[in-house]
Amino acid sequence: MPLPQNNPERSPSWEKLKNLATSVQATTLIDLFKNDSSRVSKMSLEWQDFYVDFSKNLITEEAWNALYDLANFSELDAAKQAYFNGDLINETEGRAVLHTALRSKHSNAKVNGKEVNHEVAEVKQRIQALSEAVISGSKKGYTQKPFTDIVNIGIGGSDLGPVMVTEALAYYKNHLKVHFMSNVDPDHSAEVLKGLNPETTLFLVVSKSFGTQETLMNAQTVRRWFVEQASEEAIPLHFAAVSTNLTQTSTFGISDDMVFPMADWVGGRFSLWSAVGLSIALSLGYAHFEALLEGAGAMDQHFAEAPLAKNLPVKMALLGIWYTNFMEAETEAIIPYTQYLHRFSAYLQQASMESNGKSTSRSGESVAYQTGSIVWGEPGTNSQHAFFQLMHQGTKLIPCDFIGFRTSLHENQPHQDALMANFFAQTEALMKGKTLEEVTAEFAEKGVDLKSVEHIIPHKVFAGNKPTTTFLIESLTPYNLGALISAYEHKIFVQGVVWNVFSYDQWGVELGKQLANRILSEWQDKAEFNHDPSTQALLKRYKN
Ligand code: F6P
Repeated sequence: MPLPQNNPERSPSWEKLKNLATSVQATTLIDLFKNDSSRVSKMSLEWQDFYVDFSKNLITEEAWNALYDLANFSELDAAKQAYFNGDLINETEGRAVLHTALRSKHSNAKVNGKEVNHEVAEVKQRIQALSEAVISGSKKGYTQKPFTDIVNIGIGGSDLGPVMVTEALAYYKNHLKVHFMSNVDPDHSAEVLKGLNPETTLFLVVSKSFGTQETLMNAQTVRRWFVEQASEEAIPLHFAAVSTNLTQTSTFGISDDMVFPMADWVGGRFSLWSAVGLSIALSLGYAHFEALLEGAGAMDQHFAEAPLAKNLPVKMALLGIWYTNFMEAETEAIIPYTQYLHRFSAYLQQASMESNGKSTSRSGESVAYQTGSIVWGEPGTNSQHAFFQLMHQGTKLIPCDFIGFRTSLHENQPHQDALMANFFAQTEALMKGKTLEEVTAEFAEKGVDLKSVEHIIPHKVFAGNKPTTTFLIESLTPYNLGALISAYEHKIFVQGVVWNVFSYDQWGVELGKQLANRILSEWQDKAEFNHDPSTQALLKRYKN
């Protein structure tokens, strides 16, 4: 079944939401709390180790209800069924979107009538076998030494997920050192190779298409580096590949038993759960990889079954729509209060912006409303000393997700308490702000002559009323991380359904690739430049 096509602006709730936004804009969070003593319990949600508090958002119950109506208008239930069943909902590429099947214990999803379960189990077994053999040292390199280093060569979805997860779960890492080579920048490959020993390094060439310029160039560079020091014959022992393009992997010289297939129903930016996660299984051990999948699977089940008002990904998605389409927010910030999640927002940038950065509807028309918002963020407390100034006193509305963990992984309670005091204080400060009267009273209390600070007082005022959602999670385990990622993935799905766009293609990345290839061939053929005047001048300056 294809995804339903509904222009959200034709929903009766669209106008209603516009009016509700106008009235919310005229009130404050403080007033919303004053007017409803049960706001926190009504607007928070518990699921397993997660407590998510939506109450510090500029939204009313009436607006939540109108958003649920909007979701129903968009036929979210039917869309969800099509998604989990393996229907070809990535219509412009004729593909299913089934990363959920990779972490499901009982998926009976079928793609073109064929069950996918068996195929999933088979690849997982192979990931387990290779990772266990490399970790234990039973699989050796060409000089019979065990492996010490793993290099993942891939970009976009073939890089960001594994980087983010291996960093996020660094606490659980084993002795293997994992490196990531993504950029075609010659300095990136050179830096990654620096200090590596070919005898003890395993290279994973990860590319769904096996046609990505950056990955193929990097893989060839690494191959040359390797052969110069080892030999052609040693390649099958030191190179593995993850791809849907099995012809190209064998042309590269990777032996069949080191090729991990990927189904075309796994989108690049949702692929860390597939063999693309090989570097995760290698660096954390297979059991942790499995726990990551399990957590994601549990969140999938919650998303599939929970009613709208108790459904975490649905609420995250609808809140984003509220801010984007009715409150005129342009961006959303993700602020994890753990250094381990320092690549989380970079990962979500691709997941969200490559998915919902679209302006053509599923019916093929230009949309007349905003879609995908800009995702950004850095961990707290560092970000407090960087961009929080703008969040507190700037002119922009930036809804933020604050993600914190009740227990730290390394026991050091004083540090954890300091971290979490900041975590709670920031959302409070963003909401409450500080009035002119409060600033004046503070000066007066200190005995400062108010006349002498008159010109400073307005600069110390905080308007407050800045919205945040707090995720308080028990601890950063592989299971909880899997669930957290899955919640954001489904948020993206729900938003795409409501915005009536195709979330699982990425045609918008193609034009730049085409033009880069044209420039390269112009250089190769020493052809006349034929570009706009600005680009022409820049190209001349580069190849002078
Ligand atoms: O150019 C965008 C993109 O296609 C992403 O969607 C994808 O994750 C990335 O490139 C890498 O693609 P591949 O895994 O096929 O090399």
